[in-house]
Amino acid sequence: MAKLNILEFPDPRLRTVARPVAAVDDEVRRLIDDMLETMYAAPGVGLAATQVDVHRRVLVVDVTQDQNQPLAFVNPEILEREGAVEAEEGCLSVPGIFDTLTSRSSRIVVRALDRDGKRFEMEADGLLAICIQHEMDHLEGKLFVDYLSDLKRTRIRKKLEKERRENGTASGRRERSSVPVI
Ligand code: NI
Repeated sequence: MAKLNILEFPDPRLRTVARPVAAVDDEVRRLIDDMLETMYAAPGVGLAATQVDVHRRVLVVDVTQDQNQPLAFVNPEILEREGAVEAEEGCLSVPGIFDTLTSRSSRIVVRALDRDGKRFEMEADGLLAICIQHEMDHLEGKLFVDYLSDLKRTRIRKKLEKERRENGTASGRRERSSVPVI
């Protein structure tokens, strides 16, 4: 396994729409394993292939306390959604930035292929539902900051650019561990 580099806002590659996976082969399984290693190391509770500059419809999630129940979704589709939930989110591609979104569905039913290429359906609520929706946005080239005002998004971009200028990275500040970083 290998740890991959995570793209950061406003990198234009994060705006790429990912292509469907034709077959879940060894290459895709290797990507899943590398993405899980990268997510756990970050640390985060979810990661989309887009964030590691691979533009295929693959995402990984683990919202468990012990971080020992990895889930992989290939070609995920949301079949049902209901309710609305307000929750604070962070993103590995927007380091150190947290904000409250009101646009997530509280319960979803998602269909995808697993690591073995087998189709499955899963009902999700709570953090898992938020996480899957956040990651599926990444596959469309969309970031959680896109739900915020233009003014806020511009401020965030400037803040990250300033941090990178001063420290060479904007990745050093993920202090609010109570907020999921996906
Ligand atoms: Ni994210």
